[in-house]
Amino acid sequence: MRAVEVSRFGGPDVLRLTEVDRPSPISTEVLVRVAAAGVNPVDLKTRRGEGVSRWVGPPPFILGWDVAGTVEAMGYGVTRFEIGDTVYGMPRFPRAAGAYAEYVAAPSRQLARAPSKASSAEAAALPLASLTAWQCLVDTAHVKEGQRVLVHGASGGVGHLATQLAKSLGASVITAGRRDRDALASRDVDVALDLVGGDDTMLLLDTLREGGLLLAVADGASEAVQREGRRRRVRVMEPLVEPDGHALEKIAGLVDSGDLEVKIDEVFPLERAAAAHERLEKGSVRGKLVLEVEVSRR
Ligand SMILES: NC(=O)c1ccc[n+]([C@@H]2O[C@H](COP(=O)([O-])OP(=O)(O)OC[C@H]3O[C@@H](n4cnc5c(N)ncnc54)[C@H](OP(=O)(O)O)[C@@H]3O)[C@@H](O)[C@H]2O)c1
Repeated sequence: MRAVEVSRFGGPDVLRLTEVDRPSPISTEVLVRVAAAGVNPVDLKTRRGEGVSRWVGPPPFILGWDVAGTVEAMGYGVTRFEIGDTVYGMPRFPRAAGAYAEYVAAPSRQLARAPSKASSAEAAALPLASLTAWQCLVDTAHVKEGQRVLVHGASGGVGHLATQLAKSLGASVITAGRRDRDALASRDVDVALDLVGGDDTMLLLDTLREGGLLLAVADGASEAVQREGRRRRVRVMEPLVEPDGHALEKIAGLVDSGDLEVKIDEVFPLERAAAAHERLEKGSVRGKLVLEVEVSRR
């Protein structure tokens, strides 16, 4: 099968279109024929030898986690799907999943049926970003009706979904970003979602009420931020997204009911993965970038 490999750590030019063996699903896994693969900042960081590269191991490896496609084969023990089902997910993260490829073998319970209203590009754009938003706002912060949620980096992949999810939970949402820095001066926020990182993580402490929660998603929280959080009695957490097929089922429900809409900025063919990386590296992407994968039938 065709796949895009990181040949060595470095810039977008280290991405190589290559031929590798198709994976075989072991017990509890399904083989997904990939229709589209999402592109995330962690893909770029891992390509450079940062991100989750310590768990992926040394190059060469196939990059990518977000995947949407069709179940083509199943290992022993899978009861959740049937051959031909359209599925989506972010399997194996933070270990390698190999989503930039024509086929992916994935643990069945890390996938879910894709939203029926979503195109394959939309389904592939959702998993990592929407699971991050879900695990932060629903599982960790337990956001409730009437709470104030600040989303910093609201125009990006995670941010535009987190904004909609927080609203659907009944929160009042303040969005911040490069062009809305005034929002960082607001006070009495219950939950601040930091999708920008750098020096802005410390600034976000100013927005929170005592007892509020800072979720340092982008870069984690430095010792200085942790210390300042303790001094102000603000909780500081460093979440890392995990595969979760059940949450993806709920997310698919929100997409199908019209409560969650994923915005695609641009779709690239698989072989132009390097161009997609260059585009995301430049910034100003509105929503998500996706790789379309066409299986060559031979
Ligand atoms: N911990 C986890 O599990 C986890 C999960 C998902 C993502 N992440 C991390 O979270 C971050 C966001 O992910 P994403 O997928 O949403 O990325 P993205 O699509 O690139 O979005 C980043 C957002 O941040 C904004 N931004 C960047 N620099 C800024 C600055 N200096 N001031 C204000 N806004 C700025 C961008 O706006 P502009 O386009 O205007 O620059 C955009 O809205 C990344 O660092 C990613 O690696 C972590």
